[in-house]
Amino acid sequence: MKEIKRIGVLTSGGDSPGMNACIRAVVRTGIFNGLEVYGIKRGYNGLIHDEFIALESHSVSNIIQRGGTILKTARSMEFMEYDGRKKAYENLKRHGLDGLVVIGGNGTFTGADLFIHEFDFPIMGTPGTIDNDLYGTDMTIGYDTALNTVMEAVDKIRDTADSHNRLFFIEVMGRDAGFIALRSGIAGGAEAILIPETITYIDELIEMLETGFRKNKQSGIIIVAEGDDLGGAIEVAKKVKDKMPYFDTRVTILGHIQRGGSPSSYDRILASTLGFMAVNALLAGRRGEMVGMVNKKVVYTPFDKAIKHHKEINQEMLKMARILSS
Ligand code: F6P
Repeated sequence: MKEIKRIGVLTSGGDSPGMNACIRAVVRTGIFNGLEVYGIKRGYNGLIHDEFIALESHSVSNIIQRGGTILKTARSMEFMEYDGRKKAYENLKRHGLDGLVVIGGNGTFTGADLFIHEFDFPIMGTPGTIDNDLYGTDMTIGYDTALNTVMEAVDKIRDTADSHNRLFFIEVMGRDAGFIALRSGIAGGAEAILIPETITYIDELIEMLETGFRKNKQSGIIIVAEGDDLGGAIEVAKKVKDKMPYFDTRVTILGHIQRGGSPSSYDRILASTLGFMAVNALLAGRRGEMVGMVNKKVVYTPFDKAIKHHKEINQEMLKMARILSS
């Protein structure tokens, strides 16, 4: 096993709160173990275009509380081509790096897996995405903070919905997964939660809303995952309005506010733990795995399983949500 002496760290894909805490953990753990640590800017683009910066312990001072990523991030089309990956490999070798920690989501680990097979280069990953759609970890870095952001927004919207007796359709992120919608809907006490994992029948939704109104509910919050089969919040609101013109409806699309903000304590601790363990994993000769936390235990999941294995949505929680909001 080749000795690890110099490692790199990068953030890739959609940013998420806690990425900086993870970068900090990778740098501090690497330095503690006598390694040199390089930051690579803008995800895989920086690997290809040689944007390497040597990081010292002080380089990551005062960032644990900051959202976003000091290394910047991107989605790299070039890395999807062999020539791009080859250039990246040549840069890694020229800088004498012998290991890499990538912080990102599905696309990040897809690229990393390909790279390892093509160039036999050690890479470990940590799940940096608000979507929580990776198999092999209960929570991804940024998910808890995003949930709190959505919950606070829902509370504010509920004030005005209640004042005007309105139905609000609130669209949340999550790409093609409903994890943000499900838990933020429960935390916000939503009257309905629409997620891609469960087919939404418009008549069923209307029946649920009318039942609530018959029980003297005078306003309501419907959380719509952006990937829902019925469409986004605008489409769903229109379908409901067409069938129930007497409802006063409004739409709020939360958008990228869900990606920012100071990470929660949970995300800071998760990010620190996974970054710390990712470096130790490289030192132990591991590669090609995402470091995650399942039932409070650190686990290692091969990249292809982390991205392809479908993470189940908790249907019992969805049933509970319907009962609690009825
Ligand atoms: O993957 C994180 C995410 O925020 C998704 O939930 C969302 O669909 C997507 O990124 C938005 O991508 P962009 O930031 O490129 O608009």
